[in-house]
Amino acid sequence: MCAVERRKSRRRFLGMAAASLGAAAGLGGYTSLIEPFWLELVRRRLHVRHLPAPLMGRTLVQISDIHVGRHVADDYLIETFRRVDAVCPDIVVITGDFISHHPGVIDQLASVAAHFPHGRLATLAVLGNHDYGPGWSHPELAEQVVTTVQTAGVTVLRNETCDVGGLQLVGLDDWWANQCRPFPVLSRIDPRRAAIALTHNPDTADLPVWDDYRGWILAGHTHGGQCRPPFLPPPLLPVRNRRYTAGEFALSGHRRMYISRGVGHLLRVRFNVRPEVTIFQLDDLWREQNTASGLFLG
Ligand SMILES: [Fe+2]
Repeated sequence: MCAVERRKSRRRFLGMAAASLGAAAGLGGYTSLIEPFWLELVRRRLHVRHLPAPLMGRTLVQISDIHVGRHVADDYLIETFRRVDAVCPDIVVITGDFISHHPGVIDQLASVAAHFPHGRLATLAVLGNHDYGPGWSHPELAEQVVTTVQTAGVTVLRNETCDVGGLQLVGLDDWWANQCRPFPVLSRIDPRRAAIALTHNPDTADLPVWDDYRGWILAGHTHGGQCRPPFLPPPLLPVRNRRYTAGEFALSGHRRMYISRGVGHLLRVRFNVRPEVTIFQLDDLWREQNTASGLFLG
């Protein structure tokens, strides 16, 4: 190779290296600075069997995994809550992981919680594993989380039910923190009436405890895996059932589950898994179909 060709080859190599470095820096900037805060408002219908007529068309907003702490900017969360408020939701549910623990996190949660959106009919929540602190083993921290968010107008259901206009809402406490007590709360659910269950960890849907329950289960916890290669499942998922990534799932016993991708994050990185707030419009497809065909008798 002559000297001129060597110079050309070296220039080509340097050009390719610079382009590769630029692409890597751009991708790094996108995954850590843009996508973790690029919230998507996902709008869906939620068909709830036996939904009381006054709740038809009402909105239920699911917020999950806000992770107040050192990695999620308070401004981003407050702006998220402002966007939810603008929807004027009838019911707001928060499916766990209010915090990522650090020594001052309860004070930080109190200042963020002052901006929580509220439903016209109810604002409910369940706890997630991170609300129990390091090793998910600090119930005293979870008590502080509950007190803080209840002061901000959120009712936390800890293996309890709540009636909202004839709709039964059941909230399970966290499974990884060993606080999930599905009995006797699930056995108190009337299968002839509309019901929605809130749980943080989608794996609880596979526990042999659901018996006659036929309603929806709303969950979070996975963050959708936070990073997902195109056309492939996310490589990192904190669930036993690897099917449970994000979105809607059909379950045994005529149940269905929706898993939110969540608002916050643990490490500040997301790729191909934008953060999400889900805006459900409640309806009863069974009632609608039978009303249309003249079969519905009330
Ligand atoms: Fe989480």
